[in-house]
Amino acid sequence: MIPDFDAKSVGPLAVGDVLEVTIGQVAHGGHFIAHANGRTIFVRHALPGESARIEITEVRAKIVRADAIVILEPSPDRVSPPCAFAGPQLCGGCDFQHISLSRQRALKQQVVADAFRRHARLVDLDIPVVPLAGDCDGLHWRTRVRWGVDSQGHVGFHAYRSNTILPVTKCVIATEGQGVVPAGTYPGALEVRSAEGSDGGVVIAATGPGPAGAHRVTQTVLGRRWQVEVGSFWQSHRGAPTALAQAVLAAGQPLVGETWWDLYSGVGLFSAYLAAAVGTTGSVVAVDVASRSVRDARRNLHQEVNIKLVEGQVDTWLASAAASGPVAGVVLDPPRTGAGPVVAGQIAARKPRVVVYVACDPVALARDVATFATLGYRLAKASGYDTFPMTHHVELVATLVPIAAADQIS
Ligand SMILES: C[S@@+](CC[C@H](N)C(=O)[O-])C[C@H]1O[C@@H](n2cnc3c(N)ncnc32)[C@H](O)[C@@H]1O
Repeated sequence: MIPDFDAKSVGPLAVGDVLEVTIGQVAHGGHFIAHANGRTIFVRHALPGESARIEITEVRAKIVRADAIVILEPSPDRVSPPCAFAGPQLCGGCDFQHISLSRQRALKQQVVADAFRRHARLVDLDIPVVPLAGDCDGLHWRTRVRWGVDSQGHVGFHAYRSNTILPVTKCVIATEGQGVVPAGTYPGALEVRSAEGSDGGVVIAATGPGPAGAHRVTQTVLGRRWQVEVGSFWQSHRGAPTALAQAVLAAGQPLVGETWWDLYSGVGLFSAYLAAAVGTTGSVVAVDVASRSVRDARRNLHQEVNIKLVEGQVDTWLASAAASGPVAGVVLDPPRTGAGPVVAGQIAARKPRVVVYVACDPVALARDVATFATLGYRLAKASGYDTFPMTHHVELVATLVPIAAADQIS
């Protein structure tokens, strides 16, 4: 039974206050909007239309955060989280476990549409967020996990926005081989990383300043084998490398003899398939700042004579003489912050016929799409992929093409 409750309805909000609210629309970052005491509140663990008791967890000048701690009237899309550590004050990883999978994807689709409307003035975009091939109820997809380590060396997960390590014993979104907490203790380690290859091989590496020694797994993508260090970037959902490589090729349509740039290339995942498409009369330049990933790229791509690997900052490389020649297509897969106006300007100045933008943050993508629009490029197509089920995260592949002269006049 839900106990009687006197809602606080006036006055400034403070951490620990408990209020009763009606939950409104989804917002970026896994939050849902509520209003009380003249403030907009970003609530986690809720769903639109629910009536809920919320506890304020953070009050700042510009933002108030809260957790839904008692659901008074649940949404029909609310489900029991498959993990006991998903919920208020608990694991910071999965923030959508209380939502049916179909509604999770619909919410992500809405967040994407909102991002384009607010930040790129593109209204009514309907970009479905589709499950990846082989996705199994949104569980056991994550091929790499970063475990936190407490002061005693025990492994677990960070609580939301906290240094506290929760004693999580099992992760239901991790692949089965590494879904159980790595055995033993890791005193002094900053974190423990695990990864599972497509052949089922699992590696575990405790990190100090950086993983020591070689801890590689084998991944197979579109018939090609990759050896990847546990500390290098690799698309985390077991179906993502294949889905995204195919999406990049479909969006960019690389042609034999063309020059392509793969910017923010990681271990060179997209470079490999671009290089096969452009052939030895074409070429691919792959640029990434992380030495470990570029080392992996060298190991995996040394036989590809038409790929040049560059270790360095994308903007620095774009400003260098090496980037002065003609380029037909550019793949951009920046970190969550996006590529930004400097990089967008440097790319547009080279006049590629297509830019394929792979994005893990819809707002950063929308902002960059708006910047590209001022530089003569328009969004021709975008597709959404549910590469992070049970979380609010989503991956997008956007195709940008030059605005035709006729479009510019009209
Ligand atoms: C989202 S990952 C993409 C990796 C790769 N495209 C893939 O799909 O496997 C982003 C990459 O950007 C790299 N990175 C971040 N900032 C960078 C910068 N300023 N210049 C070059 N690379 C950068 C990171 O090292 C990381 O490998």
